[in-house]
Amino acid sequence: MFYSKISQVAHYVPKQTISNDDLSLILDTSDEWISSRTGIKNRHISQDELTSDLANRVAEQLIEKSQLDPLEIDFIVVATITPDSTMPSTAAKVQAHIGAKNAFVFDLTAACSGFVFGLATADKLIKSGVYKKGIVIGAETISKILDWSDRTTAVLFGDGAGGVLMEQTDYEHFLAESLHSDGNRSHALTSGNTGLNSPFSVSTENDSHLKMEGRMIFDFAVKDVSKDVVQLIEKAPIAIEEIDYLLFHQANRRILDKMAKKIGITREKFLENMMEYGNTSAASIPILLSETVDKGLISLDGTKTILLAGFGGGLTWGSLIVKI
Ligand code: ACO
Repeated sequence: MFYSKISQVAHYVPKQTISNDDLSLILDTSDEWISSRTGIKNRHISQDELTSDLANRVAEQLIEKSQLDPLEIDFIVVATITPDSTMPSTAAKVQAHIGAKNAFVFDLTAACSGFVFGLATADKLIKSGVYKKGIVIGAETISKILDWSDRTTAVLFGDGAGGVLMEQTDYEHFLAESLHSDGNRSHALTSGNTGLNSPFSVSTENDSHLKMEGRMIFDFAVKDVSKDVVQLIEKAPIAIEEIDYLLFHQANRRILDKMAKKIGITREKFLENMMEYGNTSAASIPILLSETVDKGLISLDGTKTILLAGFGGGLTWGSLIVKI
């Protein structure tokens, strides 16, 4: 049998920060509204870096920290809804940047669940026995798809990237998994509509800005995602008390408050950093994970058990229980 594990983590965010007070200068909003409704105080916004630049910084660190020869990397997955281009993929740019010329690479589009979906995919690739090492990165420059005149979305998001090195190992680290999508509710969160363009039609839908029915996404996260996490814990080969930390998508502190009650795990175990970064979509979980390792709460020696959960556009949602 072949198994996979997370053997290294890294993150990178653009230097420029924008506070709630800064935003209140250009929008009809306030620090009081944003922080009390979401927990967000700051976000990092790219001035001149593309999504691939952020992903490249993460990949460089993963290589350096693990002292890995890039030629040993078998695959690279970049989860993003804000690629530099649809072709080439962001992952192709990362591959070229680090010289991982033996890897096959692709981008994965699952909004804020992208990193969890990518990790689950990487686990299966390694479990197949065909591939031994791979990189999974969540990277976003959401700033470029925001309508900066729309206070209902502009205040919520930020840019950043985080990622992990995955390697083959000899015992199970991925203890339980649950992945879902519901295209019937896709209208609740949209961006990058390209519409039609042919000799017979003129595009009518060419609107790339992110649009969100915030209240509906809030209710979906609290109800559907919490229920799924409860079921995941029930079927996992561990007791609920054995979960050390919960690293959930960082959209809104009030969502985490409600989820903690529904799932029945003390709120202190739900880690958070939305205060500093806002919602960074596919990057939020790997940034949080990398920071948690930097703080020494997790040592990457297989002694801790974490529950990761992503949820967002698609709709998509997914959770994993992982030894790390
Ligand atoms: N500043 C001041 N007032 C505002 C702002 C703002 N930035 N934004 C909205 N308001 C106003 C609204 O206009 C409304 O005013 P009205 O009552 O006069 O009409 C009032 O505040 C309340 O608005 P609601 O939308 O009802 O506020 P709510 O409490 O639902 O909070 C929020 C909105 C923060 C967006 C919340 O619904 C939320 O967090 N939703 C989930 C988002 C999420 O999880 N996204 C994850 C996926 S993202 C992805 O996949 C890329």
